[in-house]
Amino acid sequence: MPRRKTILSVCFLAMAGCVAMANPIIVYEKDIFPIFKKNCSRCHGNGKSKGGVSIDVADMKSDIGRIIIPKDPGESMIYEVLSSPTIKNKMPQKGRKLAQRDIDKVRDWIMGGALFNDDPSPGKNTTATGGLGPKPLPGTWTNTDGKAIKADLLRVQQGKAVLRLPGGRVYHYPLNRLSAESRARVKEFAQQGK
Ligand code: HEC
Repeated sequence: MPRRKTILSVCFLAMAGCVAMANPIIVYEKDIFPIFKKNCSRCHGNGKSKGGVSIDVADMKSDIGRIIIPKDPGESMIYEVLSSPTIKNKMPQKGRKLAQRDIDKVRDWIMGGALFNDDPSPGKNTTATGGLGPKPLPGTWTNTDGKAIKADLLRVQQGKAVLRLPGGRVYHYPLNRLSAESRARVKEFAQQGK
């Protein structure tokens, strides 16, 4: 009888192990910050915020708009600068590219909701305080032809306004094709916190 009990508990532990491995909860403070600290803090840490980006846990911020879009790594600039072959500002600037498993970890962290820490109390477990940058700016945007769309402005990236339509689709719209009035609003948004 004691033997059977042992076998059962071994199976149970093995299963628990599998579940834990399938769903690792990745959080900024514990899992991602050490990667950024090592590779990015020279320019984005210890009070330095080149390009308006700081990766410090106590002062995580982005003055250029939302660079982390929870569950959408493809639209998260913080992931794009590490992974995209075409983006202009590849990071880290100077120095070696991150190990692929670290890049994947950043992706999985964003996929999992870009949690800041594992504190479940409301308002704590989020990167919204600074890491996400200014809140998206809802608005109606007009282009040079006078056409209007309703969308949330997420950020400005490489001369384009990154706009999220109500259905969730994201457009990178050239600033010079926006009306002067819309363009001025985009520029003002991009200057926040600078
Ligand atoms: C040697 C300095 C240096 C290092 C190291 C570095 N960066 Fe940067 N980073 C910069 C500079 C300079 C800019 C501003 C570039 C610009 O505005 O053209 C920048 C801009 C950025 C931006 C905004 C990109 C944009 O186009 O506006 C992000 C996001 C970013 N860095 C993330 C990171 C991450 C994540 C790491 C670590 C993996 C990192 N950086 C490492 C210097 C660095």
